[in-house]
Amino acid sequence: MHVSHLATEVDRDPRYSAIARLRAETRFYDAVIDQVDGRRIRVGEHWLTDWASCNYLGFDLEPDIIGAVDEQLRRWGTHPSWSRMLGNPALYPQIEQRLAALLGAEDTLVLPTITQIHLSVIPVLAQQGTILVDSRAHKTIWDGCVFARAQGATLSRFRSLDELAALLAAGNPGPVLVCMDGVNSMTGNIPDVRACLDLCRAHGAVLYIDDAHGFGVIGARADDETSPYGISGNSIIRYCGESYDNVVLVGGFSKAYSSLLAFLAVPTVLKNRLKSAAAPYLYSGPSPTASLATVLAGFDVNAERGDKLRSELYRMTTRVLQHVRGLGVFTPNTDDTPIIELPIALDRDLVEVSERLWERGLFVTLAPYPGVPRDQVGFRVQVTAANTDAEIDHLNAVISELAADGVFQEARESSAS
Ligand SMILES: Cc1ncc(COP(=O)(O)O)c(C=O)c1O
Repeated sequence: MHVSHLATEVDRDPRYSAIARLRAETRFYDAVIDQVDGRRIRVGEHWLTDWASCNYLGFDLEPDIIGAVDEQLRRWGTHPSWSRMLGNPALYPQIEQRLAALLGAEDTLVLPTITQIHLSVIPVLAQQGTILVDSRAHKTIWDGCVFARAQGATLSRFRSLDELAALLAAGNPGPVLVCMDGVNSMTGNIPDVRACLDLCRAHGAVLYIDDAHGFGVIGARADDETSPYGISGNSIIRYCGESYDNVVLVGGFSKAYSSLLAFLAVPTVLKNRLKSAAAPYLYSGPSPTASLATVLAGFDVNAERGDKLRSELYRMTTRVLQHVRGLGVFTPNTDDTPIIELPIALDRDLVEVSERLWERGLFVTLAPYPGVPRDQVGFRVQVTAANTDAEIDHLNAVISELAADGVFQEARESSAS
């Protein structure tokens, strides 16, 4: 077979065809950005406001963080290049200790990406046991689960707490791993971690939870909190006032911290086992020095000003959400996090809607099937602390225009997904 024929086969696969069409027919894929100015981006001659970035705290633009890179590059070179098994610049233990202290966890292990963590760690933890996975879990969790199944684990999915309870009660070969998103990457909603953990603990299962979008945004609730996101951005387990018993927390720096690095919060004994079992620790190239430097500088900025940034983020996010809800437009976001998905009406075409967004100067994340259920195809905007009120005004005005034209679905009685 000619290798290019493989492309035709891929195009026929329903899992990829919606994205293939959007790549071919919209301007929101593979965009080449020629210039960045705050949250404004230029593509060719066209300026847009960037609502697709997940740099929730605006650390990508933060002068104190940008200024921290140069010194570390001179000290360590651009890239360590050893796999972590072989050698680690001293930045690594500094990051892992500061992160453990921030999370209030016993220990942490950092690896370049969450994708690598799921693919390598889920199979190691599940062994020939059982994985129960949330139907709305991120694709990269699913990939790790499927890989684990190929190595002997049994895989089932659940769509609700009741289904999870029934699956756990049925009795399963151990170890039993319950896998899910923290702040959900599509709906922006925060799962009922306490109820999940009660079930896991009652059945001796481990909750493996990916809080890529919560880390840096939500954290421990406190009397002096500056917003309902809580303080410190120390992620979902602290936000829910829970302990790390029966929990493996996974998170990343590639969203709120604008760096290429990810982590597991685990007891030291498990961290050490993963050091001999997880392929990215043993064999993968590590994160570049600049990313390690921006993580450390990010911890400083988070400690100094993080709560102020989060209160701004919350204020601007609720400006958008109140506007959307006031128009009677449906969004699955009921928890006021900065991920706002706007499903389009079922008779509307995402390509046509995307063209209008482009013309009105909005750069968004398109959300096709199967990334979201068929009845929630639409687009997603993320608010960040680097947005301005003028940009929020503009976004709200465009949402009003599209709503008046019937582009969106009407709000439902029970809007949580
Ligand atoms: C929930 C979730 N997990 C994992 C990832 C991938 O993270 P990484 O880029 O660190 O592999 C994403 C990125 O969008 C995500 O939203």
